Amino acid sequence: MTAADTTRPLVLVSNRGPVTFQDDGEMKRGTGGLVTALTGLASHREATWIASAMTDRDTEVAQENGGRPFAVDAPDDDGQFSIRLVASDPQAYDAFYNVISNPMLWFIQHYLWDLSNAPDIGRHEVDAYEHGYKVVNRDLADAVLEEIEGQDEPVVMVHDYQLYLVPRMVREVRPDVFLHHFVHIPWTQPDAWRVLPKRIRNEIYLGLLANDIIGFHTRSYRRNFLQCCRDLMELDVDMEAGIVRVEDREVWVRAYPLPIDYAATRRVAARPRVAEFEEKVLARRREFSIVRVDRADLSKNVLRGFTAFDLFLTQNPEFAERITFTAQLIPSRTDVEQYADYLERIEAVVAVVNHRHGTPDWMPIDLKLRDDLDEAVASYKHYDVMMVNAMFDGMNLVAKEGPLVNEREGVSILGENTGAHEELGEFALSVNPFDVQELADAICAALHMEGEERARRAKGLKEIITQRDPGDWIDDQIADIRSKARAGAGQAVSPTRS
Ligand code: G6P
Repeated sequence: MTAADTTRPLVLVSNRGPVTFQDDGEMKRGTGGLVTALTGLASHREATWIASAMTDRDTEVAQENGGRPFAVDAPDDDGQFSIRLVASDPQAYDAFYNVISNPMLWFIQHYLWDLSNAPDIGRHEVDAYEHGYKVVNRDLADAVLEEIEGQDEPVVMVHDYQLYLVPRMVREVRPDVFLHHFVHIPWTQPDAWRVLPKRIRNEIYLGLLANDIIGFHTRSYRRNFLQCCRDLMELDVDMEAGIVRVEDREVWVRAYPLPIDYAATRRVAARPRVAEFEEKVLARRREFSIVRVDRADLSKNVLRGFTAFDLFLTQNPEFAERITFTAQLIPSRTDVEQYADYLERIEAVVAVVNHRHGTPDWMPIDLKLRDDLDEAVASYKHYDVMMVNAMFDGMNLVAKEGPLVNEREGVSILGENTGAHEELGEFALSVNPFDVQELADAICAALHMEGEERARRAKGLKEIITQRDPGDWIDDQIADIRSKARAGAGQAVSPTRS
């Protein structure tokens, strides 16, 4: 047997693709860290990207292309992609997306369940798994199988929590495939997984363990995953080397922290449309500016961010009328009840804080509920403080994009449970995301920080952020794919890394 051929175009598969086609004919860039990462990747490497059709127009476009891959221009001038959109039965997709992927798995993997109240696992949830999650995973697995037909020892990269069953479905038909799965979100400790009925949990773990390599952003998620395999699945696990033995196979578990495509982000920052937004930002600017940019997701801890700002204004009245907190939040997963409620609670808290501290010509919080990358980048360039206080977050790419383009030696406040904290914590003000007083104090400390200290930190952040790009990230993974394939072929393996 020869080692897997990693020189052919990669086959990537994820639920969300790089673009969605809107009813009005517009093509919109997909939101979220996964798309940011893979867009960078697909512009560095030749790849066919298989994804779910998520809008009616996506489904029509998929049909117009006979269900085959087609070329699209990447938004933000990032080159061309070859994408293949897979349309699933709408009811199955709804159950897959709005019941099992979000909230069920997402909440388990961010410790978001309030366990004395939820979740209840009843027929509705089990049906959603059987007739939703499994169906969509099957549809994507079938598309992968078609795509790799006729290839010897193909390489497939599967992405994220929506697709844990895909690897096993593919492996069953194509035992020779090399499967690599990257999980973009945290992996939580074993007990968090106990809310899932054992049968479903086992299927999910066995689905994922059909991969050759499983990648995470951080060493801590890797450790949690290995512990889960040991405690929940009673498998033979080598915690040091990061190897799980399943029947006669070895699964390698690795950490590959995701870099941003810093060159592409800088190109965005130089766009004329960003400059137009900057003019507005500067015209409305007070003496100080705090910025946050997030999907409106419960894990991002938006409410505590505003509560801390509220505290800060109460405890530091000298900042009245001198500071604005700009929060650009992208509405997300709004068909899920918890997300819709969260948006309402965000608006309510903003109204309270603005009412309590605002004056006729000063609104302390400027809430923008929209998805506009250019506008967000314009705010990044001019903040004095950036707040990233997620409770738990796989990586958090905003924590990298902001400091990269910021022009004011702005200070980053960074939650200690974000993946980015493993890399950037040293140059940020670390906060416990639950400690609102600490966060209020961090805002104060950031605003009073001496110029030299701000410059040292801003430089440190920029240096780390520009050390690597998604091409390096994928190269590391391909190197591991090669050495594991060689190991499978009975050749010597290079020493394992984290
Ligand atoms: C996170 C997840 C991605 C997801 C993104 C946006 O970054 O890791 O898998 O695509 O959020 O969420 P959405 O549900 O809109 O695809």
